[in-house]
Amino acid sequence: MAKKQTKGWDYSPALESTSHVELKKRYDLYINGEWVKPASKKYFKTINPATEEVLAEVAHANDEDVDRAVKAARKAYTDVWSKTSPSERAKYIYRIARLMQERSREFAVIESLDAGKVIRESRDIDVPLACNHFFYNAGWADKLEYAFPNRTIAPLGVAGQIIPWNFPLLMAAWKIAPALATGNCIVLKPAETTPLTALKLAEIIHDSGLPPGVVNIVTGYGDTGAAIVNHEDVDKIAFTGSTGVGKIIQNAIAGTSKKATLELGGKSANIIMDDAPLDQAVEGIVNGIFFNQGHVCCAGSRLFIQEGVYDKVIEKLKHRMNSLIVGNPLDKNTDIGAINSKEQLDIINGYLKIGQAEGAEMYQSPCDLPETGFYCRPTLFMNVAQSSRLVQEEIFGPVLAIQTFRTVDEVIQKANNTPFGLAAGVWTDKGSRIFNLTTKLRAGVVWANTFNKFDPASPFGGYKESGFGREGGLHGLEGYLKMN
Ligand code: NAI
Ligand code: MG
Repeated sequence: MAKKQTKGWDYSPALESTSHVELKKRYDLYINGEWVKPASKKYFKTINPATEEVLAEVAHANDEDVDRAVKAARKAYTDVWSKTSPSERAKYIYRIARLMQERSREFAVIESLDAGKVIRESRDIDVPLACNHFFYNAGWADKLEYAFPNRTIAPLGVAGQIIPWNFPLLMAAWKIAPALATGNCIVLKPAETTPLTALKLAEIIHDSGLPPGVVNIVTGYGDTGAAIVNHEDVDKIAFTGSTGVGKIIQNAIAGTSKKATLELGGKSANIIMDDAPLDQAVEGIVNGIFFNQGHVCCAGSRLFIQEGVYDKVIEKLKHRMNSLIVGNPLDKNTDIGAINSKEQLDIINGYLKIGQAEGAEMYQSPCDLPETGFYCRPTLFMNVAQSSRLVQEEIFGPVLAIQTFRTVDEVIQKANNTPFGLAAGVWTDKGSRIFNLTTKLRAGVVWANTFNKFDPASPFGGYKESGFGREGGLHGLEGYLKMN
């Protein structure tokens, strides 16, 4: 008889097999269509944050390596890609999408191993959505002149792309697909804790027959990212990550001709009005803050509950939290996987201490946590002041700050009162209330009676310190074009 799962690591019949996954012991840099050893001669280890086991060693690119990658991209752009017809470009992008689909199980498992993300999410959300970004953008490649009538459009040239660790493959697809569709060549750097799916994607790109140098993948830390940002022959920087690094990048490119899109942090409000369908709203709140361990730039990390339904919502929310299973990301029953890194766990635990010291009331679901690996219980803070650091700062973990409100004006004022403006959610039965709130919330995306819904056709991006520029949809393609 199969043993019942009690903690993350016990045997479970729901455990995803890893036998079909091939990882190399050591990954070099993918430059000019070849795997090349880093001039730096340095490698770093990427681990599985759920077990702390080493998965592979990965090259740490230095300035010289980045220079090689940029030169390869420029040469590919000048000699080949700028002369490739839009319909040919589309064929390559479709081919990449189909090859990804064929290997989607492998991608999903590698993503879960390297990032700590639960397999259900990697398999059902990250990988299919990543494929869809390629399909969607492939469709635009030979129709762009119709999208921008009466304008002369041209690619920018070489795009430097720097991505974070929360949606590693999805972010790679989200950046690479529109850049290719618009005729640019690419140097992409994945995050240091999650390089493996981008390297797997390099293998797929290679198999697709894409001309050498059109996409180059260089792995490394912040210094590698900085080398891309500071390279004089890069035309555009597309960055997703922390607001702090976004500001460094903005300063670094000030006064140069480089273009930039920056997708930065968030502190998104989820607002429950007293007429909201409460069960549905609570599901949306749970999804908004606990999806992907809360490592989501648009996470609904601030909850506003209208006073009349406060007690009911809190009761339902705690009940729902208590049913969440935290543990082995490869178990199909797990709801909350591992925190991406020890550093991130330390940041989150720091905020738990800050919240308690500020006098907010903390509630954590009483689940067991695995003994090894980096984990955090789903956590609520109630009675949190507007000025609290829990309300004003991005935590990027499964931690929800709850406030109450009486009137629509009050909640709009509070919801808009942070340095960020990425997303928001509104839960109500009345269409007029939705309209009123969505037009007054200063957020790039406002969801009504849903949360964390993404589509390659929808533009995404923020106001204020959440960054600028839009990715996704036609707006995302526009960010890779020169127009006259
Ligand atoms: P980070 O912003 O340092 O890392 C994101 C990417 O930027 C990585 O690929 C990293 O290697 C690269 N990078 C780091 N320094 C760089 C530099 N000077 N120039 C160019 N590239 C550079 O984020 P980190 O430290 O991993 O996470 C810290 C906090 O940032 C998190 O707690 C979270 O609040 C926030 N964050 C937000 C994300 C979002 O999507 N909004 C994503 C990742 C982190
Ligand atoms: Mg890792």
